[in-house]
Amino acid sequence: MVRKVFTLLPLLLCLQAMFVTAGNFPDPQSFGLVILKNYSPRAGVAPVIFDHWLHRSLFTCRLCHLDVGFAMEAGETKINAALNMQGVYCGACHDGKKTIGGKTIFAACAEQFSEEEVKRCARCHSWKKQGVREITFDAFTKKLPVGLGKNIDWEKAGEEGVIKPLDFLEGISVQYDTLQAQQDFSIASEADWASDVIFSHKKHALWNGCALCHPGIYASTKAGTVKYSMLQIFEGESCGVCHDKVAFSLFFCQKCHRNPV
Ligand code: HEC
Ligand code: HEC
Ligand code: HEC
Ligand code: HEC
Ligand code: HEC
Ligand code: HEC
Repeated sequence: MVRKVFTLLPLLLCLQAMFVTAGNFPDPQSFGLVILKNYSPRAGVAPVIFDHWLHRSLFTCRLCHLDVGFAMEAGETKINAALNMQGVYCGACHDGKKTIGGKTIFAACAEQFSEEEVKRCARCHSWKKQGVREITFDAFTKKLPVGLGKNIDWEKAGEEGVIKPLDFLEGISVQYDTLQAQQDFSIASEADWASDVIFSHKKHALWNGCALCHPGIYASTKAGTVKYSMLQIFEGESCGVCHDKVAFSLFFCQKCHRNPV
């Protein structure tokens, strides 16, 4: 089985080159989309749409996945209306009081609400509803640089300062010691047609801090203890915990295997 997948990889490489040059692949708007529907259908409300393109422009991964405490797997956190109303999860920000850039963040769920407020519910409970969102993908991402497959080039957006994701929010984040960013390193390739992978600790720490990877994904912080394989990554482990879901697609081989073979 493992061997079969390896012989398929060259084919994948060609396919991805075709896809990437063909246009919008993967679909930039639904990349990183999470549909939350653990409780809504049974309660008779529409499932909730959570977009990474919007939220990651405003906040670092670390802030949400560590300080707020969202799982890095769709549907795992078991967010519900009661928790939101207590000021946890979405309600940590969406409480109708906190402000970002001078604008009050609209509140999440409520038990009692006026007819006028129903519009607010639909901003999140928006699955299969048209025209209920105030922030649309096209308008919001117009100024963001695009890269491979017309996907947003987040690295460039950060470097150019088009986005300035916050890493600290009063009342949510705790002050923590900033650890020194580690050395960037090269992961030697075991296949001669795929080039070595350069891993930048510095760039990753900007978004993820240290604790999103250590010890959860990489238990050891001793060099050379991790075994990598492309198969594992495609199955959503190691680099694949983030890449292909929220960080850039695994189809963009050349972003990791940087030197041409
Ligand atoms: C900031 C986003 C957001 C807004 C705004 C919002 N909700 Fe929710 N709501 C959620 C999320 C997330 C869930 C969990 C969804 C799931 O897993 O099914 C949820 C779940 C619910 C549920 C399902 C039952 C339960 O116990 O969880 C109800 C009912 C609900 N919300 C009512 C409302 C009402 C009424 C409003 C408007 C006054 C509203 N919500 C506004 C995010 C939001
Ligand atoms: C505003 C908060 C927020 C920010 C910022 C954020 N996320 Fe998420 N992320 C979430 C929520 C909410 C979920 C869904 C969790 C659930 O359903 O239990 C999620 C889910 C995920 C998943 C699982 C997706 C899937 O399809 O299984 C990954 C991977 C992930 N996030 C990575 C990232 C990375 C990488 C960044 C930074 C580039 C980031 N997130 C930024 C809130 C955030
Ligand atoms: C770290 C803070 C933070 C967290 C946590 C967070 N959001 Fe947001 N969210 C924001 C901010 C800020 C905006 C922009 C609001 C604005 O400009 O009006 C926003 C906007 C949105 C919008 C766009 C609404 C529209 O009309 O287009 C949706 C939908 C949304 N959030 C859903 C969620 C859901 C669902 C969750 C929980 C799973 C969540 N958010 C968690 C900060 C957060
Ligand atoms: C997120 C980064 C990333 C992306 C994108 C990526 N790879 Fe890899 N790949 C790795 C890492 C890390 C390794 C392990 C070190 C090594 O062998 O180079 C690896 C290993 C490999 C190997 C060596 C055999 C193995 O399984 O260990 C091949 C072949 C390979 N990748 C092909 C591809 C192809 C083809 C694509 C595009 C479809 C791709 N990779 C996309 C990170 C990536
Ligand atoms: C995106 C994931 C990720 C993030 C974020 C991350 N690391 Fe790492 N780290 C790794 C990987 C992968 C290795 C390699 C482990 C191996 O090959 O054995 C590693 C190795 C290390 C090592 C041992 C290798 C060396 O260079 O000495 C230390 C120490 C370390 N990390 C500390 C940190 C610190 C401190 C931070 C925050 C500033 C951080 N890491 C952020 C993924 C990450
Ligand atoms: C915790 C989530 C996470 C993990 C795990 C992770 N990455 Fe990333 N990576 C990101 C985010 C976020 C970016 C920013 C770009 C984006 O989102 O598309 C990024 C960017 C990159 C870049 C472009 C920036 C640069 O370094 O030049 C490369 C290459 C990369 N990752 C390779 C890897 C490899 C190889 C691994 C596994 C050893 C890995 N990543 C593991 C989240 C992650």
